Amino acid sequence: MAAAEPIPPTIEWRGHSIRLLDQRALPARLRFLACNDVDTLVDAIATLAVRGAPALGVAGAFGVVLAADTLRTKRQVRAAAARIARARPTAVNLAWGVARGLEAYERGGRDTALDVAESLAADDVCRNRLIGTHGAALVPVDGAVLTHCNTGALACVGYGTALGVVRAAFETGRRPKVWVDETRPLLQGARLTMWECGRLGIDATLIADGAAAALMGRGKVDLVIVGADRVAANGDVANKIGTYGLAVSARQHQIPFYVAAPASTIDLATANGDAIVIEERDPDEVTHVGSHRIAPPDAEAFNPAFDVTPARLVTAIVTECGAARPPYRRSLPAHVRRAAEVVTPHP
Ligand code: MRU
Repeated sequence: MAAAEPIPPTIEWRGHSIRLLDQRALPARLRFLACNDVDTLVDAIATLAVRGAPALGVAGAFGVVLAADTLRTKRQVRAAAARIARARPTAVNLAWGVARGLEAYERGGRDTALDVAESLAADDVCRNRLIGTHGAALVPVDGAVLTHCNTGALACVGYGTALGVVRAAFETGRRPKVWVDETRPLLQGARLTMWECGRLGIDATLIADGAAAALMGRGKVDLVIVGADRVAANGDVANKIGTYGLAVSARQHQIPFYVAAPASTIDLATANGDAIVIEERDPDEVTHVGSHRIAPPDAEAFNPAFDVTPARLVTAIVTECGAARPPYRRSLPAHVRRAAEVVTPHP
């Protein structure tokens, strides 16, 4: 990656360990975490030191290499791979990355798995740039874009998907203004997207999640663009909790609602959103902000980390192959096919 890159790679293989940009510490500190064993990696995934569907995919592939380096038998490596894949259930990329790493390991051993993981990492950045190129045309000059969670370089190895579209528009001379949902409960918007936009020089304004519909109603949003953790064969989209509400509001106000994701996030084996497993996280994340408790001690809380937006509310899904439009049952398989033929230059 070029030295001028304003956001360091989120995930890299260093010697015999995975180096993660520890997203739990941002924006207060730019800190890195060395994962020297599978336990540390699984904990890093579960606690969101590494997060975002594309980054999870690459973490999964490197995780197989880590397992091969630290465990004695093939059986142990397979069991560790299954454990990594289960660490978070909703993002299909995690299981996808583990499967790619494991297939390479079974075929050619640890070094082959490392080659595949390294190429997935490089490939991620190239594909995200393509998503950006295709998506930038959807952003009007000086357009107001609303986004949710963090879908930038931090959610990938680099560049970003939905925020990558905004970045690509910015890099081609458009001057988008971004409304950033804070994204309760873990505040990926407030902590991470605002940090990235600051580093990139993109004009961003943080809003409470509950403000989004009102801004749409007042004509202050031209488009909504979000990422995805899994896109079902019919175009239903699982993404960070709160996304569905944005799509409903966007439809109510006749604002386009776009999803940006690499084809690896499209899961043709899942017929529709009903079949997507939604991760439920610790209720403490809702009763607390950071380590500070805000709810009464006996308050019950429920914490689904993702929701499913029905395909009928999605204007288009931007992949590295362009914008897939409804009917998604027809357009998504074509994108998956074409994406397999995209050759990205690896450094
Ligand atoms: O819980 P997170 O932070 O991993 O959730 C991330 C999201 O929901 C993103 O929108 C999605 O993974 C796409 S990231 C390019």
